[in-house]
Amino acid sequence: MGDCKYSCATATETLDWIRAIIQFLKPYSFFWESHVVNFITHRLWEAVDEEWIDCLRNEPVECLIQIPSGFVQQHWPSSLKKFITSLSSLAFPREQADLKKLLPNMQVALLNNVITQGMNQKKRHEIEVLAAVVSSVARDVETNTIIDVGAGQGYLSQVLSFEYQLSVIAIDASSHHGRVTDERAERIKKHYEAKIRKSSLGGKGLTIPKTVTCRVLSSDMLKTLLNSKDVDEHCHHQSTSDTCPLLLTGLHACGDLSVTMLRAFLESKEVKAVVSIGCCYNLLSEEEANPLCGFPISRGVKSTGLHLGRNSRDLACQSADRWKVMEKGASLHNFELHAFRAAFQMLLSRYFPETLTASPTIGRQGKALRRKHQNSKMNGLPTDECSRKPDSTSGTDEHVDTCSLFEKFSESGLHRLNLNQPHNIDFAAIWKEAEPFVEMIGPYWSLRAALGPVLETLILLDRLLFLQEQGDSVEAVMLPIFNPNISPRNVALIAKKT
Ligand SMILES: C[S@@+](CC[C@H](N)C(=O)[O-])C[C@H]1O[C@@H](n2cnc3c(N)ncnc32)[C@H](O)[C@@H]1O
Repeated sequence: MGDCKYSCATATETLDWIRAIIQFLKPYSFFWESHVVNFITHRLWEAVDEEWIDCLRNEPVECLIQIPSGFVQQHWPSSLKKFITSLSSLAFPREQADLKKLLPNMQVALLNNVITQGMNQKKRHEIEVLAAVVSSVARDVETNTIIDVGAGQGYLSQVLSFEYQLSVIAIDASSHHGRVTDERAERIKKHYEAKIRKSSLGGKGLTIPKTVTCRVLSSDMLKTLLNSKDVDEHCHHQSTSDTCPLLLTGLHACGDLSVTMLRAFLESKEVKAVVSIGCCYNLLSEEEANPLCGFPISRGVKSTGLHLGRNSRDLACQSADRWKVMEKGASLHNFELHAFRAAFQMLLSRYFPETLTASPTIGRQGKALRRKHQNSKMNGLPTDECSRKPDSTSGTDEHVDTCSLFEKFSESGLHRLNLNQPHNIDFAAIWKEAEPFVEMIGPYWSLRAALGPVLETLILLDRLLFLQEQGDSVEAVMLPIFNPNISPRNVALIAKKT
């Protein structure tokens, strides 16, 4: 978006970007309002330009999964190329920012094997970078007390505490997480104490993060917590003032929780800065009647009357970077599962139409199914019903194979929905009816997923605009702080009171 490399400097520019996105998305509501489970029952491909589908159904899966990242081929229809490249230019750039340049006072502590115990490579990267960013911002706003909201098992809190000597309060809804955080912190503390003894440096006593178990449901609730004894006792007062300056942070604080943090930042005079990385946009509340809902929060987006809905918020969670690195087998498997789910929806509409009014979800299934199936094939066991039914095959082993997988998928789906399986379900007939449309699912889903990064951008810009609408009292910026190949949900919203 023109001059707005990471995020626009003014509310007006941010609102222009938002308006450009809304304008672009409007004619494609058939993509973002739809759900792939209805692909066959609602004949979703019919809403898409026929030329696009005809072209993409011949493309290999390796090409399709690059579409959400803005990939196009020269020979594709020009309207299709324009659609994909426009989406790319409207999405927030995800390439990791040069943090040393943007935050000159940032110092990165390299993490040892004791403090990173239990972290996978992704978590270790996130914590290493985020802790350095948080400590840099804390120094800017002259605070030593950090509130880690949705702290999970306390990974970030502990690094801030032991490596950056900050005073940390770790809040999480789960008491189990609180216990794990405490136990982990005690173990890590021993390591640091031994290190201090060996180096005979002495120094300040080590403090471990204070854990608080609380499901934070509103900014008022968070503000009450921030003013509580728990926080005050743990505060490192820096000045003579009797209030404790705080920095709020949250790594992948789900749904409304990230928004609650932004509201508490504005409403609480103690909170001097916020560093927030959101996730799970599907969990955002979006009721027009509720002024404190999770989306939209800015006056600018509210004034457009935009309503995203559950399917679009789900779509905003799709990551182009994750698609891009998917292996061929995994991508094919993924499309196949979408095909099974869409055919299963046909089955429900035939045999259990009443269930569809409740938009049933059957969760993620499929991996175990395929593994079991492959094992039974290797052991030469009879595979399934589909192969036994005389009218069920199209004459190829592949059909039988896929059809039997569909049958198992459906049986498991029915079980999850607590539906008794009547004897007359003709799985083979359903699959035969679905099969001609199955090859269009990959193209359709890839085009739809290309909207994901733009929808996420819209949600993030709404948050940025909300802060910018406060005028000069707040300085806010959005930065992709993680390497997107390691951690695709990588955008931090950083705001300070000026
Ligand atoms: C995606 S996890 C992130 C955990 C941690 N920040 C990390 O990155 O390792 C989100 C965490 O937020 C917590 N959580 C979700 N909603 C919450 C709420 N309303 N109040 C407090 N904690 C919440 C969950 O229990 C979970 O531990």
